[in-house]
Amino acid sequence: MLVITLNPHFLELKPSYLFTDIARKVEAYQQNHPDRRVLKLGIGDVTLPLPQPVIEALNSAVAEMGTAEGFRGYGPEQGYAFLREKICASDYHQRGIYCIQPEDIFVSDGAKSDTGNFLDVLGQQLTVGVSDPVYPVYVDTNIMAGRAQQIVRLPATDANGYQPGPAELTQDLDLIYICSPNNPTGSVASRALLQQWVDYCRQHQALLIFDSAYEAFISDPGLPHSIYEIPGSETCAVEIRSYSKKAGFTGLRCGYTVVPAALMVAAEGQTETVSLRQLWNRRQTTKFNGVPYIVQRAAEAVYTPEGQQACAANIAYYKRNATLLKNGLSQMGYSVYGGSDAPYVWLKVPAGFSSWSFFDYLLEQQALVTTPGSGFGNYGEGYIRLSAFGSYEVTQEAVERLQQLPRPD
Ligand code: MLT
Repeated sequence: MLVITLNPHFLELKPSYLFTDIARKVEAYQQNHPDRRVLKLGIGDVTLPLPQPVIEALNSAVAEMGTAEGFRGYGPEQGYAFLREKICASDYHQRGIYCIQPEDIFVSDGAKSDTGNFLDVLGQQLTVGVSDPVYPVYVDTNIMAGRAQQIVRLPATDANGYQPGPAELTQDLDLIYICSPNNPTGSVASRALLQQWVDYCRQHQALLIFDSAYEAFISDPGLPHSIYEIPGSETCAVEIRSYSKKAGFTGLRCGYTVVPAALMVAAEGQTETVSLRQLWNRRQTTKFNGVPYIVQRAAEAVYTPEGQQACAANIAYYKRNATLLKNGLSQMGYSVYGGSDAPYVWLKVPAGFSSWSFFDYLLEQQALVTTPGSGFGNYGEGYIRLSAFGSYEVTQEAVERLQQLPRPD
């Protein structure tokens, strides 16, 4: 046995990550029912192949790496200029957001890692606000960093459209996470609500981490895709984005984090201000060697007209699944939320069930995998989440299997 000092906060975590627990249950079910076709509407993992322009870009970057002229070793830790410039032009400037420049964009291996890694630059004594239910990574990474007792959970309920606002706070927050479109509820924060959060952050010296990994699913033209559509946000908000859901990169891994130049911070009790972007840059240059060249070329291809078209087609495909789930389930008498501008449908379980017992019931009765809402927090109890990332056939069959069950209430 090795006797060593551990990070004691790891022992404060639940023994395993939500999706690991689910995978274990599904595996056990499959072993006991080898002939049953299990339909997976659980983890939000894409199923369509990578868009053709992305594959072509990957192939040509691989070929380049095999030539003396095209070979690249270590790249810039922040990402290659070709990608940072495309991101800035397409995701920000073309949308009328001019407060962001390529230097503010840090290309990464995905939103999940950046969400956790960003905590490296922040101090321990922060009060952290998350909505509940919540993407577990925000909570677990803060627990790992020793903030288990400083996490304030803001109920996200039917009453507030699953997007709590600062008016509901009973204590001050220093760090706030907003996920919009939301994982797991599928709700989307309105412009007015985001303005309230930005105003709150500016008044209370709080930092906002805005996770917009699902922005590509927004169809409603009135809903904001980026926090930087909100005036003043460039002085208080970091935005995290991903190609996972937008372009099918869950296995390829690429995303980016935006830390605007205008985001200046002062350590508590100090008057001297420092640039948060500079601190994040310091962190990245020390702990990260950048995303593979071939992957960044693949991400660049997302911004070509063909890439945009192919990604839009994939998003439309998943949105059709979401509509099928949402309509199918509401016709059966279930209360459903989300699924319009997001790939997740949030469903109230029938009376007499808990989240986990309904999850087990669906798995046992219909070989259907979902995600229990309580896995995302106490206010998720009584709900399950359905993912629209399966194939259309799987989604259709899932709806048919659900129709065979007794109707709720
Ligand atoms: C989910 O199912 O919640 C997502 O796959 C999580 C993620 O993107 O990490």
